[in-house]
Amino acid sequence: MKRTRGKKGRITGRVDDQETISQIEKLIGDESIKRDMLVEHLHKIQDTYHYISNKHIRALAKIMNLSMAAVYETATFYHHFDVINEKETPPPDITVRVCNSVTCEMFGAKKLINELKLATDSNKIRIQSVPCVGRCASAPIVITGTYPIENAKTDDVLAALNKNKLTDSIPENYIDYVAYKNNGGYETLVDCINGKYKSDEIIKLLEDSSLRGLGGAGFPTGQKWRILSEKKSPKMIAINIDEGEPGTFKDRYFLENDPHRFIEGTLIAHWAINADEIYIYLRDEYAGCRILLEKELEKIKKNPPCKLPQIYLRRGAGAYICGEESAMIESIEGKPGMPRLRPPYVADVGLFGFPTLEQNMETMHWVRDIIENGADWFSSNGRRERKGLRSFSVSGRIKKPGVHIAPAGISINELINEYCDGMLNGHEFYGYYPGGASGGILPASLGDEPLDFDTLQKHGCFIGSAAIIVLSDQDKVKGLALNSMQFFEHESCGQCTPCRVGTSKAIQLMEKEEWNKDLLEELSIAMCDASICGLGQAAPNPVRCAIRYFPEEFKKCPPTQNKKTKQ
Ligand SMILES: Cc1cc2nc3c(=O)[nH]c(=O)nc-3n(C[C@H](O)[C@H](O)[C@H](O)COP(=O)(O)O)c2cc1C
Ligand code: SF4
Ligand code: FES
Repeated sequence: MKRTRGKKGRITGRVDDQETISQIEKLIGDESIKRDMLVEHLHKIQDTYHYISNKHIRALAKIMNLSMAAVYETATFYHHFDVINEKETPPPDITVRVCNSVTCEMFGAKKLINELKLATDSNKIRIQSVPCVGRCASAPIVITGTYPIENAKTDDVLAALNKNKLTDSIPENYIDYVAYKNNGGYETLVDCINGKYKSDEIIKLLEDSSLRGLGGAGFPTGQKWRILSEKKSPKMIAINIDEGEPGTFKDRYFLENDPHRFIEGTLIAHWAINADEIYIYLRDEYAGCRILLEKELEKIKKNPPCKLPQIYLRRGAGAYICGEESAMIESIEGKPGMPRLRPPYVADVGLFGFPTLEQNMETMHWVRDIIENGADWFSSNGRRERKGLRSFSVSGRIKKPGVHIAPAGISINELINEYCDGMLNGHEFYGYYPGGASGGILPASLGDEPLDFDTLQKHGCFIGSAAIIVLSDQDKVKGLALNSMQFFEHESCGQCTPCRVGTSKAIQLMEKEEWNKDLLEELSIAMCDASICGLGQAAPNPVRCAIRYFPEEFKKCPPTQNKKTKQ
């Protein structure tokens, strides 16, 4: 941010603009102005003005007693903040986001984007291509303002715009606080607190249940709680609802149906490890869920089942990388969401420098049921010697997409036939993403492999958050692998060269008709070996799988026969 000289040679860049300061102070109200509220306050400015200008940044820096550089650096990191300088024209008030990730691309996103650009006035409406918004079962998805349109067609979007449908609403028919409590909800938590169980007993139960982290890494949950229970206070809990992996929408499903179950699980974790504060980090795209959570947290705070710790709800700002645990912590602290170098691990030095238990929200969803029904209830599920239940987010060419809760170790052939009512008519099973864009792509010939943590590594893939995208003979893996690489390039935080440069170099190579496979493999090795975090390490999985498992897509077309030569 440069200092600028006014007409008379005075430095004007840092002169306090009292009017803007007052406006921003009014927006902030009596909320905290500590650094960790920076992203929250930036949201208030973006929501009000639809952009964040230099004068807003200057005023916010002044109010929060931060450097302008710190505010600017954070604001410009996140895709949902439109930071503009004085000379730039602000974006139109209305933004229409069209998902362009894998499943939406398969269901016509490109055509939709082109049609919408032609049909709307760019001075009034901005059409943006954005990565997965967590509704892949109803692809293609368009979001007008924050209002989601599923199975979107151009006319539906134009009709929504005409009717000014620009805000998401609270999901209907979910189990609210009263209904949850009437069904025994929070009794297990109260039992824990009243001494019916010892914390060690509950941790042992979780270890025996074989519950593993369902955010992607699959770390055994009981073991994580045990490690944290042995750390010195103060300790934090951070719940991850960033859910940005293309193909994943299970967390939204649980939130929209039964939000208190994960809150109870989290409060039990809080008791078991003797933690202090709880932070819940929700992706910005889930605007309806945010209203729901705010409402339900308010209810539980007003009429608590027991003494409650501080629970804070924090809003993401359109950055997939903030799902990575240390990046999420940076984001909660009000900084750009850049993964930290490890060690130290977040279990030792996490949120605000304290030991932190970070868990995916679905992992917490299962805690109450495991305590009430026993460790065996969970672990006795499973096929092919795998243990537990998995919530598969299934999208693509099947008849019944959606969240399917199935035994760990089920194969994709079984999942398609037993849970998804088979392939769409006229589509033949061709391949599948077993774990979203990061998890690689497998061919139909590997359709009997057990889907679980640790079972797909030998094939260069992993299950991650169990986001299954089913491909048919009408899809081309080459194009979809490119789509995945474009996603990683867009979402790379840019702090390490192999990931930042590697993803963009890979795109250049993959956009060519003929791929330089040796160079792509060399690049993939460098990215896997030298990237700081899982994003850069997993980014090459789809391209490597395309080359390894779909050789037919790389066969050169025979040259068109020259009639003269033939004669
Ligand atoms: C690039 C990247 C993105 C991630 N995104 C998410 C996410 O959106 N949600 C999530 O729960 N975990 C995500 N994770 C995994 C987290 O780092 C962490 O392992 C998880 O939140 C721990 O909770 P769990 O043990 O309950 O799974 C991501 C990891 C990486 C490397
Ligand atoms: S691998 Fe990519 S996303 Fe991860 S820290 Fe490095 S640049 Fe950032
Ligand atoms: S919502 Fe479009 S791919 Fe997920």
